[in-house]
Amino acid sequence: MNEETRMVFGVDYYPEHWPEDRWSTDVRLMKEAGFNMVRLAEFTWSLLEPEEGCHDFRWLDKIIGMLHENGLGVMLCTPTAAPPEWLMHKHPEIYPTGLDGRVRGFGSRRHYCSNSAVFREYTEKIIQAMATRYRNHPAVMAWQLDNEFGCHDTVRCYCEDCAKGFGKWLEAKYGDIGVLNQQWGTVFWGQQYPSFDRVILPKPTICDAPKYGLFAHNPGLILDFFRFSSDSMVEYSDFQVRILRENGVTLPITHNFMAGFYDIDYFKLAEGLDFVSWDCYPHLTGANLDSYHEIAYQHDKIRGYKNMKFWITEMASGPLGWNIMSRTPNPGQLRLWTYQAVAHGADGILYFRWRPCLFGTEQYWHGVLDHDGIPRRRYQELKQTREELQKLQDVILQTDNDSQACIIHSFDNEWSHGYQPHSPGFSYNNLLFSMHYGLQKAGINCDVRDMQADLSAYRLVVFPAYNISSPEEAQKIREYVENGGTVVFTFRSGGRDSCNKITGETLPGYFRDLLGIDVIDYDALADARVPLDGLLPHSEASFWCDVIDPRASQVLSTYGSEYYAGSPCVTLNPYGKGRAVYIGFQTDPKTYANLFSHLYPDASFLEPCDAIETVRRKKGDESFAFLLNHSNNSLSLQVFCPFTDLATGKTHRKEIDLVPYDARIVRFL
Ligand code: GLA
Ligand code: ZN
Repeated sequence: MNEETRMVFGVDYYPEHWPEDRWSTDVRLMKEAGFNMVRLAEFTWSLLEPEEGCHDFRWLDKIIGMLHENGLGVMLCTPTAAPPEWLMHKHPEIYPTGLDGRVRGFGSRRHYCSNSAVFREYTEKIIQAMATRYRNHPAVMAWQLDNEFGCHDTVRCYCEDCAKGFGKWLEAKYGDIGVLNQQWGTVFWGQQYPSFDRVILPKPTICDAPKYGLFAHNPGLILDFFRFSSDSMVEYSDFQVRILRENGVTLPITHNFMAGFYDIDYFKLAEGLDFVSWDCYPHLTGANLDSYHEIAYQHDKIRGYKNMKFWITEMASGPLGWNIMSRTPNPGQLRLWTYQAVAHGADGILYFRWRPCLFGTEQYWHGVLDHDGIPRRRYQELKQTREELQKLQDVILQTDNDSQACIIHSFDNEWSHGYQPHSPGFSYNNLLFSMHYGLQKAGINCDVRDMQADLSAYRLVVFPAYNISSPEEAQKIREYVENGGTVVFTFRSGGRDSCNKITGETLPGYFRDLLGIDVIDYDALADARVPLDGLLPHSEASFWCDVIDPRASQVLSTYGSEYYAGSPCVTLNPYGKGRAVYIGFQTDPKTYANLFSHLYPDASFLEPCDAIETVRRKKGDESFAFLLNHSNNSLSLQVFCPFTDLATGKTHRKEIDLVPYDARIVRFL
């Protein structure tokens, strides 16, 4: 691509849904909007191979050719998310099996088990055919694997292939069945297994009572089954990458990740890809003002999976719905969401979808155009947005996110807490989200990474409910703090080993020395709330209260009621050149913001305001920021550090006025 079109703007296009005589109009309109990329083909296996072994690429050749003639690039997808009927009819053993033991059959999509050897054979053949045909096509710029691995609850499968695969996976991990029995503690209720092939999949048992939120399986079995299921999907993804590479594809390969989805260890999935992408639907999260934080959190997580810039493979471009519809984006919101994505690290954005379909499940999932194919306000807004961002693309492409803080996200903890939430209603991810939101409110931008991260890149590292850990990790964290870093840990940290067993050490277990405290009792609150005192008056603890012996640590806050009223709930232990903070409860984003502002005063460069998101970027010594007004109100805000607005060239030293849904990029003086 030439210099002018380096940022990727495009659409998800389904030419197979439209008569061929419409294609030229579509391509012209795309070109006029300034789009330079079109994603194609992820559900078209039945067209590319209408009968086993008979390929028909004519339609795809034609549309790719038309796009190419008009200067548009193509992101080509492997079509495995929609295995054709002839294949499923011939090999019903490919269908996945649900937890209830029922086969999940034909009629939607993703109806395959990633552990099916037969499906792998057919996967290989169709990808081989596509790769050989398009590997040297000058229009093709990137490949997407499949579509949303794991969507519609398709990671954990209970079929025969998975049962066999799980046994093999366990054997490779433990080597000796005695070791497994010991590590899981199968002596409890006399569940010792004689061999790996006799280990069960965690299906319903006598004790399961979903009605009461009770599940009875051994936590070691559960965690390993979740890991195995995730590994199976990752292995299937890596398998697709291998086929593409073996058949001459040299272009970047990605996959479209999902928001709020945790059945696949996305850090591992990302390892096999050249870059990560995700499907972003901001108004699916609700219409309240806070919902923009959820999207900010998702963007930061996606950037963290490979610690690099990413693409949005599907960005909302209209009202969403299958049978009912979401609110329609207000004028300005599509532009705002685009700026928000770019602010957090997206350097490619494709809007879903070009035009809503006249038939099929997703009739009401709107697109850039309407059902009648006429470009209206949403088309015009995206056209204008692309023009603006194209002018600023050097700043966008050459700067990186400038994060002072990092939240550590761990899939082991995700899955362990997911199975045993400790306190009714507790959600590991809501805790991460609330702390992320608190950091954002305190003006501190944040990465979300796993323990592979170089901690020394951050001033502050947050470990929400970091329960499963190891002595090695504890050592890495101690070194970071000794050298001047600040860590924040919460309740439910340091208590379990990698087999999901409780270590039996006084809590916070692995981190007890570092945090300088003992947890001597605790209280799972369920719906109850406990008021706080000290540094955090007018705030409340939710879900959990640790009762803490602070030993020599400083006490920043205390509980205001219960038998432990007056006892410490937030502590700070100076350690080496750094600080180790412990929070014995969960709370709301505003209270987290107060706490983080106490640790890092003056992080904000703009008067704090609930509707405003600020995202810092940097390039060497130069410092930039995005200002995003997520409200429908005009706002006038005080400026603490002067900056120049890159679009207007105007310098703001004291204040800035923002219109509804405003988005600005500024450079600090
Ligand atoms: C996901 C999928 C798309 C489409 C949209 C709308 O993001 O990737 O194929 O189904 O949802 O439902
Ligand atoms: Zn299966």
